[in-house]
Amino acid sequence: MERFAEQTVFIRDVETASQLMRRYYCTVKETMRAMAGYLPAMKMWPAKKMLARHIWFDAMHADLLRSRTLDLRYPRVDVDNQSDIYLIRFLRQLPTASSDEQFLVHVYLVIKPMLLVALKEYLAETDPLDDAPSHAYLKRIVTELDEQLQEAGQVIQQIPVDSAAIAKYRQEYEQLIGGCGGVHGPDRDNGFAVPAKRYELPMEGGRDASWEPAVMQVPPRDPQNVLEQRLWIAIDHANEVWASETAAALIWEYEDMPWNLYFNAARWTYDEMRHAMMGEQRLKELGFEMGVDVPMVPDHWRAFRERGVLSLLLLVHGLEQKGPLHKSKLKQELFKVNDITGAQDCDYDWADESNHISFGLAWIKAVVPDWDKERIMEKTQQIVTEWVGWIRHKHASGEHGYEKFMERIEAKTKSYADSEKRIQADPTHLAKQRGL
Ligand SMILES: [Fe+2]
Ligand SMILES: [Fe+2]
Repeated sequence: MERFAEQTVFIRDVETASQLMRRYYCTVKETMRAMAGYLPAMKMWPAKKMLARHIWFDAMHADLLRSRTLDLRYPRVDVDNQSDIYLIRFLRQLPTASSDEQFLVHVYLVIKPMLLVALKEYLAETDPLDDAPSHAYLKRIVTELDEQLQEAGQVIQQIPVDSAAIAKYRQEYEQLIGGCGGVHGPDRDNGFAVPAKRYELPMEGGRDASWEPAVMQVPPRDPQNVLEQRLWIAIDHANEVWASETAAALIWEYEDMPWNLYFNAARWTYDEMRHAMMGEQRLKELGFEMGVDVPMVPDHWRAFRERGVLSLLLLVHGLEQKGPLHKSKLKQELFKVNDITGAQDCDYDWADESNHISFGLAWIKAVVPDWDKERIMEKTQQIVTEWVGWIRHKHASGEHGYEKFMERIEAKTKSYADSEKRIQADPTHLAKQRGL
C-alpha cells in the first residue's frame, strides 16, 4: 500500500493485494492445521466441540483466501509454498501449548483477534469496486470470525484460571506473533527457538476431566429392551469423537499435502464431532449423563495409535464402508418405532458418511500412493478384523471396565416396562461382526 503525497486516496496494486491475501491464507491455514493438531489432546469437552466446528469454518475461510490469492495473478505454483516461512514456522508451534487454557488463549485471545483487526483494516483500505471479490470474501470471514470470538469468550470465561495467568499468556504471545510481522507482514524472524522435533500427536485422545475413566465403548452384552437399544446407539454415536480426532490428526500429521485434502478433512473433523453431539443429545434425552453413566473413551486410538496415524485412517475408512448401509437401516427402524429425532440424526449422518468414504480413500491414496485398490481393501479389512478381535478379547476376558457403567445403566432402566416395539437393526455397526 502506498500513499501518494498529493492524493487523499490509498492505492493498492494487485501485487500487494495478492501478497497480503496469501499471508492471510497462510495464517488461517496454519492456525487451522495447528488447531487440528491440538484437537486430539484437548480435554475440555465444550472447547473440543467448538474447536472441531471452527476448524471447518477456518478451512472454508482459508479456501476463500486461497482462491482470491490465485485470482490476483499470484503464480499458481507458489500459493502453497512457504513464502511466509517465519510466521508459518512459529504457528506450527501452537499445539505445543502446555495446557488447554494456554492453547485457547493463544488462538482465541491473540491470533484470531489480530486476524480480525487485519482483515478489517484491509477492507477499510481497499477499493470496493476494483477489489470487490475480496470485499465479499472478507466480509463473510470477518462476520464469522467475530462469532467465533464471542463463542470462545464464553468458553474461556468458564475456565477456572486466574486472570493474571491469562493476561501473561496473552501478552507473551502477542509479542511473539508481532515479532514475525503480525498478520500483515512483512515476514521476519521473531527469534523464537524452534525445537528440532515437531509437535507429536498424543497417544490417545483427551477426555473431559469430569468423566469417569473407561476402557471401551461397546457394552459387554446385547441390549435387553428398547430403551437399552436406543442407549447403545447413543453410546456408539457419542463415542465418534475418535473419528473426529482421526480426521484432525491427518490434517496435522501430513505436511504439504494438496489443499483439497485438508479442506475435506476439516469438514470430516466437524461431521464426526456432530455425530458425537447427536449421541450427546440423545443420551441427555434418555436421562443419561455422558462420561458418567456411560463411557466416553478413545478406545480405537488406545488399540492402534502406536502403529501410527495411517492405522487409524485405515480403521476409520474400513468402518465407514459399512456406515451408510448401517445408518440407512437404523433410520428406517427408528422411524418405525416413532423415534423421529433419532431417525433424522441417522438420515443426516448417512449423508455425511457417504462423503467420508471418498475423503478417506483420497487420503489413503495420498499417504501410500503405491497401494492399489486391492491392497487398500485388504489393509482396511484386516484392521477392522483386528478391532473386532480387540473388542471380543476385552469382553471375554472381563477387562472391559463396564461394571460401574452397567450398574448405573441397569439402575436407570430397572423400572422400564418394555412394551414398545423392538428395533430390528443392530445397535452398532459392529454388532454382527463381533459375533456377540
Ligand atoms: Fe460418523
Ligand atoms: Fe464418518
